[in-house]
Amino acid sequence: MLTILKGPYLQWPTLETMTFMWETSEPSTSEVRVFVAERIHSGHHGNFKRPEQLLSSVATQEYSTIHQVTVANLQPGTYYFYQVYSSNESGDVESNFYPFMTAAGDGIPFSFAVTSETGGFSGFDQSGGQINRNIFAQMKRYRPDIALFIGDIVDDGDEYDHWEKYFFAPGQELLVNTPSYCCLGNHENNGSWFYKYFAFAAPKNFYSFDYGDVHFVCLDSTDFIKSETYPYSSEEIGPGHAQYEFLLHDLRASSAKWKIVFFHYPPYVSGGYEVEAMRKLCSVMEQAGVDVVFSSHTIVYERSHPLKDGKIDFQDGIVYVVAGGAGAMPEWLLPKRAWHTSQSLAVPHFVQGVVTPQSLELRAIDENGNLFDLFRLTKDDEGNKSYF
Ligand SMILES: [Fe+2]
Repeated sequence: MLTILKGPYLQWPTLETMTFMWETSEPSTSEVRVFVAERIHSGHHGNFKRPEQLLSSVATQEYSTIHQVTVANLQPGTYYFYQVYSSNESGDVESNFYPFMTAAGDGIPFSFAVTSETGGFSGFDQSGGQINRNIFAQMKRYRPDIALFIGDIVDDGDEYDHWEKYFFAPGQELLVNTPSYCCLGNHENNGSWFYKYFAFAAPKNFYSFDYGDVHFVCLDSTDFIKSETYPYSSEEIGPGHAQYEFLLHDLRASSAKWKIVFFHYPPYVSGGYEVEAMRKLCSVMEQAGVDVVFSSHTIVYERSHPLKDGKIDFQDGIVYVVAGGAGAMPEWLLPKRAWHTSQSLAVPHFVQGVVTPQSLELRAIDENGNLFDLFRLTKDDEGNKSYF
């Protein structure tokens, strides 16, 4: 019988397009139907009428099991409903209706969520996945427009079953209406499933995109620091390295108000699994005006002071946030904080980012939904920063 195994889930939103993905139990056709979202302004039956007015439908008769369909000609920052449909000789299957929203444009405030280590935090999860489910539930409750996953989202990226167990099943209710972005962690093993399940721009292991007033850059730190030489780089992290050149030119080309870079190995953390070799990227990011770097790998929450040239700098520094996410390993922190540490706590968490043209606010939230750290950066039109 033809069934939907994963998703549907959202990928790569732009102002005018959305990409829809799902996996079926057998090779089958792909179709996405997009409907007008009609608001209900009174009563107690939810925010939208049941979708009736079909706006567009995109279909292919080619058979696949992992389906990827992009619908174009949508309006920016607008609600719609969608439904996916597949068929083959044995039957057909369609999903429920789900709401989605196209990307926000310049000047439009939005929210994003950040976590990592959903893959049973490297085999140490004693909760049977409950922490993982709690974090996904809290992320959904805070209603982010997009979600970033900073690697180790599965325990072994070569294992097909792990993608369902650690990511798609616990994340289903979030991912069905929240576009997600991931970077490779060491536990993904650069496995082929990462490349099949996500619709990031080629080559997929590093890419950039704009959302609202933020330019986001994703890097593959497991390519800089290969497992054979970890925690050192097998080749020079500098000019001539493909990702280094990408980072340099991509950041230079962006005039976005806020710049955020994310990759798995943390350049700064007051605990085990700090990967100092990643600091070779810092000068490029400092010169390009990067505001925040998210990383993971050390399974704690940590926020650095603003740093530039290896020193604290409240005018031009970068804040490094370790969003060690859906796990917590207290003994992985050193007994005392490092000089660069502003706040540090080993609790399961996610980070909620709230962005306006004037401010970038990060809120660290635990698995019960409680705030335990807050950081706000404001920037005037001349680029002068203030921190709270
Ligand atoms: Fe890791």
